[in-house]
Amino acid sequence: MTKLWGGRFTKRPEQWIDEFGASISFDQHLVEEDIEGSLAHVTMLEKCSILSGDEASQIKKGLQTLLEKAKKKELTFSAQYEDIHLNLEKLLIDEIGPVGGKLHTGRSRNDQVATDMHLYLKKHVQQIVGLIENLEDVLLTKADQHVETIFPGYTHLQRAQPVSFAHHLMAYVSMFKRDAERYAESLKRIDLSPLGAGALAGTTFPIDRHYSAELLGFNGIYQNSMDAVSDRDFILEFLSNSSILMMHLSRFCEELILWSSQEFQFIEMDDTYATGSSIMPQKKNPDMAELIRGKTGRVYGHLFSLLTVLKGTPLTYNKDLQEDKEGMFDTVTTIEGCLTIFAGMIETMTVKTNVMEKATKQDFSNATELADYLASKGMPFREAHEVVGKLVLVCIQKNIYLMDLPLEQYKEASDLFEEDIYHVLSPKTAVNRRNSAGGTGFEQVKKAIQLAKDELHEK
Ligand code: ARG
Repeated sequence: MTKLWGGRFTKRPEQWIDEFGASISFDQHLVEEDIEGSLAHVTMLEKCSILSGDEASQIKKGLQTLLEKAKKKELTFSAQYEDIHLNLEKLLIDEIGPVGGKLHTGRSRNDQVATDMHLYLKKHVQQIVGLIENLEDVLLTKADQHVETIFPGYTHLQRAQPVSFAHHLMAYVSMFKRDAERYAESLKRIDLSPLGAGALAGTTFPIDRHYSAELLGFNGIYQNSMDAVSDRDFILEFLSNSSILMMHLSRFCEELILWSSQEFQFIEMDDTYATGSSIMPQKKNPDMAELIRGKTGRVYGHLFSLLTVLKGTPLTYNKDLQEDKEGMFDTVTTIEGCLTIFAGMIETMTVKTNVMEKATKQDFSNATELADYLASKGMPFREAHEVVGKLVLVCIQKNIYLMDLPLEQYKEASDLFEEDIYHVLSPKTAVNRRNSAGGTGFEQVKKAIQLAKDELHEK
């Protein structure tokens, strides 16, 4: 078979070389975007009188036929034609004859592939933002139900201070909100048309780049033709934003896995999101959470892979850039899948409020309350810390909790202690009194939930 670029060659490449260089096995994902780009290009060529009305309409008709076949998965591609662009051009010529060869006037595969990638990513980033917002919604509904659920807050994975379970969930809502903002903000740079940059230097044909950009729904065009064909920053940003999002999902999954263990028993996953063991009949494994945590690795890998691909490439297009695709496609599939599964997992999990609340009564996470109590009665906080630390030690030695210590013993430690310490020591009081802005007090948490809902739905 002759190559579409075969004119200056005397030898044809070996089949295995063809296969090594070909990207059709993966860039066929771009089939619809590629046809869409071609339709805009040919419409622009006609408007600028570069092609006649008759030529343009034959080409458009041919492209429409290909688009319909593509949607029905009826097109057959071959590694012989390297990539989606040349495969489609060949199919178009087969469909409508030599006039199909006019489509590539004033265009190069370099601006063509970049255009496809921008179209593809724009669509998926918008979808991903929607999926993140859906997850925020699910979390907000859960948070609403658990404002007054008392939960052990941790630092260093040691019980630190009791918090509202909703407050814990709302911390993740803040993270996901930042993720959605990052993706949305990156759209500014994705939503640009490289089409018409040509191979690298623009073209001699009197094209109208703004017109084809507008037909494709882009918000503007790349200013510099060399940048247009060699820029892959927008994909790097996508991979980087996706890495941060995966890191958030992974941290949350780690917690869900811990919480579903026998040791914690704070939640139970719905059966849909868990699996059994082939040998141990009692097992219920939080597989989906583990898998999302595990998939974080491949997304980080794709980011690092592309950074490394790009670091040594001189301007402008180099074949290295073909390596930008598989990681991007895989990241899209991974992120869309993880967000969907994760939201379902949260929505259906059982929160064991009694276990959580009981846990907060069987630890020393109310020790700060006691130190604050003394400090509010005038004792320097550092001194109060020491007094309470000693009382904690007494309890540990006696195998009891601060709540169980008799008032006389408190009085011995400091005469500032009164009967009301037992109220102060209650985890619920401890949570509700932390009413500083952004704190875990019930009023603050309710405010935070309302604010997040307003922000999410006002858009
Ligand atoms: N398959 C190529 C890629 O994905 C398309 C661009 C090819 N351009 C070229 N000059 N070889 O990067």
